[in-house]
Amino acid sequence: MAKRLDSTGLTFRQDYFGDPAGWAALVRLLQDIFGIDIGPLKHLGGPDPTSMPFGWFDATGELAANISAFALPFVINGRVVHAAGLQSGAVRPQWRGRGLYRDLTVKALDWCEQQGFEAVILYTDKPSLYEPYGFRSIPLHRYEGAAPAPSTSAAPALPLSPTNADDLALLQALLKTRSPVSTTLSVTTNAAMFLINTQIDPEIRVSFLEDQQAVIAWKMDAAGRFSLLDVVASDIPSLAAILGGLDIASAGIDVFFRPEKLDWVGTPQPLESTTTLMQRGLGDVTPHFPAMLSPLADF
Ligand SMILES: CC(C)(COP(=O)(O)OP(=O)(O)OC[C@H]1O[C@@H](n2cnc3c(N)ncnc32)[C@H](O)[C@@H]1OP(=O)(O)O)[C@@H](O)C(=O)NCCC(=O)NCCS
Repeated sequence: MAKRLDSTGLTFRQDYFGDPAGWAALVRLLQDIFGIDIGPLKHLGGPDPTSMPFGWFDATGELAANISAFALPFVINGRVVHAAGLQSGAVRPQWRGRGLYRDLTVKALDWCEQQGFEAVILYTDKPSLYEPYGFRSIPLHRYEGAAPAPSTSAAPALPLSPTNADDLALLQALLKTRSPVSTTLSVTTNAAMFLINTQIDPEIRVSFLEDQQAVIAWKMDAAGRFSLLDVVASDIPSLAAILGGLDIASAGIDVFFRPEKLDWVGTPQPLESTTTLMQRGLGDVTPHFPAMLSPLADF
C-alpha cells in the first residue's frame, strides 16, 4: 500500500537552480537546517551544472523540503562508475512527518534511474533512513604514518584562494584534468564540491606546487600534525615532493584517501566520522583496500 503524503499548501518543483529565488530558498534551507552556507558557490563557478533539485515550496516561496541529485562519477576498485550523488536532503521542522522526504527521495531515485545512472551515493548521519531504498554503507579508512624526508623543491608552494579570480581559473583548469587521487576510491572531477568545501572549513589550506602542476589541500593542527586531504593533478606527486614543496616538517601524517600513488606507506585506520557513505546499485561492493573519498569531495 502506498504510504501517505500530505503536501497541503505546498507546490512541487524540480530543476530550480536557474531561478535565483529557487536557489536562494535552498541556500536558506541549508543554512537553517545544517548551519552551512553554500551561497559563496555563486562566486565559485556556481552549483554543479548537472544538479537536479527536487522540492516542495510553501506559498511564500520558502523551501519546505529538498533533495538534490547530481552526476558524481567515481572510481572504485579501478573502475569508473557512472554514478549520481544525492545531497542537501532536508525538511523544515514544521513540515516533517508528512511523507515529504520519502516523496522527494522516491522522485530523485526515479530520476536517477531514468537518467541511466548505474549507482547512487550519499553521505548521511541517519543510515536507517536510506536502507529501505537498498542503500548500503561503504566502510571508510584514513591512513596514518611517519613523514618521509621532504624532497628538495624547485620553488616554494603558492597559497591559492578560490575566491581570487586567477586562482579560481587555475583550480578549475586543474580540476577538469585531474587524475583520480586513488584508484581504490575517489571522485573523478566534482569541481563544485571541492571549491565550496574550501570555503566551508576555514582550516583547509590550498597550495599550488608549480613544478609538480599539483594543487594540495591540507591542514596542520595546533600540535603540528599534517593532514593531507586531497591532491589535484594529472600526475600525483610523491608525499616527499608534497612536503618539500610545502616546506613542511611534521613527524606524523594523516592521509585522507588511499595513498597508493604517494610513494609512501601508512597504516589504515577506520575513519571517525558522524556520517556514513552509502551506495545503491552496486550490490555488496566495498573497496578492495581500506580507502575513503577525500574530505574535499564531501557533499
Ligand atoms: C530526516 C528528515 C529529512 C525526515 O523528514 P520527514 O519529512 O519527517 O520524513 P518523512 O515524513 O518523509 O518520512 C520518511 C521516512 O523517514 C523516516 N524517518 C524520519 N525521520 C527519521 C530519522 N531521524 N531517522 C531515521 N528515519 C527517519 C520516517 O519514519 C519515514 O519512514 P517510512 O517511509 O517507513 O514511513 C528530516 O527530519 C530532516 O530534515 N532532518 C534534519 C536534516 C537531515 O537529517 N537530513 C537527512 C540526512 S542525509
